[in-house]
Amino acid sequence: MDALTALRLQIEWGADEALDEAPVDRFAHADRPRQGHAPARAPAAPPSRPMPPPSGSAPGPVLRAQEVAAAARTLEELRAVLAGFDGCPLAATATNLVFADGNPNAGLMLVGEGPGAEEDRVGKPFVGPSGQLLDRMLASIGLDRTRLLITNLIPWRPPGNRNPTDNEVLTCLPFLLRHIALVGPRRLVLLGGLATRAVTASTVGIRRMRGRWIAVTIPGLPAPVPTLPMLHPAYLLRTAGAKREAWADLILLRRSLNAEMSDL
Ligand code: URA
Repeated sequence: MDALTALRLQIEWGADEALDEAPVDRFAHADRPRQGHAPARAPAAPPSRPMPPPSGSAPGPVLRAQEVAAAARTLEELRAVLAGFDGCPLAATATNLVFADGNPNAGLMLVGEGPGAEEDRVGKPFVGPSGQLLDRMLASIGLDRTRLLITNLIPWRPPGNRNPTDNEVLTCLPFLLRHIALVGPRRLVLLGGLATRAVTASTVGIRRMRGRWIAVTIPGLPAPVPTLPMLHPAYLLRTAGAKREAWADLILLRRSLNAEMSDL
């Protein structure tokens, strides 16, 4: 994307005046790190840990998901075990498994919620309207799908785009956590409340989680992953007023990449 297109997007989103390099949230609570000031190297919040049910108490499909996901040694194996997994009813109604798109070696990984109609038809994440907005958002900070890997918490489309049930989330989560562990990203972006809740095990809403880096412990990875929860593009399509916050988060992401991953 050229500079003019990026500028148009910024103007459309309300960034109509250049006062500073990053917005300052003057209403933020004193105990909350200010937007744009979270250090790129040291994530702001203490590590949080995903809380899959302990093996003994997990329902059958969740237990099986944990076992087969843990056994996958490569992304190809993980895709294959997901394709053969019959413990999630969503697999039966979906047209395609939606596994991932982009570059698994880039060091940056994005996680959305689950496929919609277009993604289900094509078999790739974020190719419908919210994906097109996401592509424009990423392009505005110089990113495209060769520079990141994108996947979803739920790899099969819920019928009629309904929300996935808690059991479906719990069953799919081990595959996502294994996916993240196999990729080993240096930066993780969680798009929307569902992915953020599942991966961080936090009950805090996305509007309060976004705007700062947190450190998330992923089973199988040696160190917590710096993680940025962001608003979901589908939400941004419905909520024009939220685009300023999304732009602030994109700036946080760009700054962190500039500081730590200059090849991106
Ligand atoms: N929304 C998501 O969260 N993921 C997709 O792949 C598409 C829309």
